[in-house]
Amino acid sequence: MRALRCTPSGHSGPLLELVELPEPQPRAGEVLVEVLASPISPIDRLSLRGLYPLDPASGIPGAQGVGLVVEHGPGVREPEVGSVVLLPVRVGAWRERLVTPAVTLVPLSAHRDPVASCTLRIEALTAAVLLADLEPGECFLHSPGAGSVGRYLTVLARDRGLRSIALVGTREPVAELWGLGADNVLVREPGVQARLAALGLGLPRVAFDGSGGETSGMLGSCLRVGGELTIYGAASRKPIQLPVDQLVFRDIKARGFWLHRWAETAGYARLRTELEVLVAMDLHEQIAARFTLDQWPAALDLAEQPGVRGRVVFIPATSQTTS
Ligand SMILES: NC(=O)c1ccc[n+]([C@@H]2O[C@H](COP(=O)([O-])OP(=O)(O)OC[C@H]3O[C@@H](n4cnc5c(N)ncnc54)[C@H](OP(=O)(O)O)[C@@H]3O)[C@@H](O)[C@H]2O)c1
Repeated sequence: MRALRCTPSGHSGPLLELVELPEPQPRAGEVLVEVLASPISPIDRLSLRGLYPLDPASGIPGAQGVGLVVEHGPGVREPEVGSVVLLPVRVGAWRERLVTPAVTLVPLSAHRDPVASCTLRIEALTAAVLLADLEPGECFLHSPGAGSVGRYLTVLARDRGLRSIALVGTREPVAELWGLGADNVLVREPGVQARLAALGLGLPRVAFDGSGGETSGMLGSCLRVGGELTIYGAASRKPIQLPVDQLVFRDIKARGFWLHRWAETAGYARLRTELEVLVAMDLHEQIAARFTLDQWPAALDLAEQPGVRGRVVFIPATSQTTS
């Protein structure tokens, strides 16, 4: 059974190595799963830099994925053999097969594309939880609008009767975001506050920031007095820049959000309910390219390109290249 494992040499040597591991055997309560798709998400790229914890037992990256149940351990009845399932988070999915407790799996319907479902567990769930406290019909602002979380925010907002305004870095994704249901899409450039005011929607109470850097201040400046800026990421890899006058004179409240902490606080029953809602919806990740495990250098290279749109995905359980 082949897997990608982080090399102990870390930053000085190659990041990963393709290794042959013993076939995993499901014990009582566990199932054997063939991994159909696992994306290279920002969380994986952070793990490879040592900035986010890996699955500690295996050292195998792949924070999320979709698999096919191929064998039950003793005592397991569900999900049935042949079911396509969402894997639990931080399971180390960049390998051909793995074992996991049956109760951690969320079944997907048979007609779903497993590859396009590969980010439901983290990016779609993040978007769903961020939107949970908004009032019906409420308008919110978010950036980066064209990222995976941003696209799910747009689609889920449309589904929940919320109004979304996406901020994007370039004009390129504008038409597509309109198509996904964005109420407005604005390019992040000077004067964005004036353009927002001109839309006549009123200033939003809430903004979600996955960009960091100067975008944090831009989002804060677009909120009404007393508004809330929730920072969930820093795709720009720059520290957030939030001018003090926004905090002091405009009473903007900034807070962080981390899905992992939310899940700990919310508990497994709530987490599972949220996931079951998402898997029942018509949600699709945008896929940039697919790679087999042995093609990992090209896959990581592509995932790091700033202009790439959509997820680069490993297809571990196949030897065929479809990119
Ligand atoms: N807190 C949590 O629990 C949680 C959960 C999921 C993700 N995250 C974090 O949220 C962030 C976004 O995640 P994602 O999955 O949506 O990322 P993604 O799909 O990789 O999207 C990245 C987007 O970031 C924007 N971007 C890239 N370079 C940028 C730059 N120099 N300045 C500003 N924006 C830039 C691009 O949009 P533009 O072209 O519009 O700039 C790109 O579409 C990441 O930092 C991720 O780690 C956090």
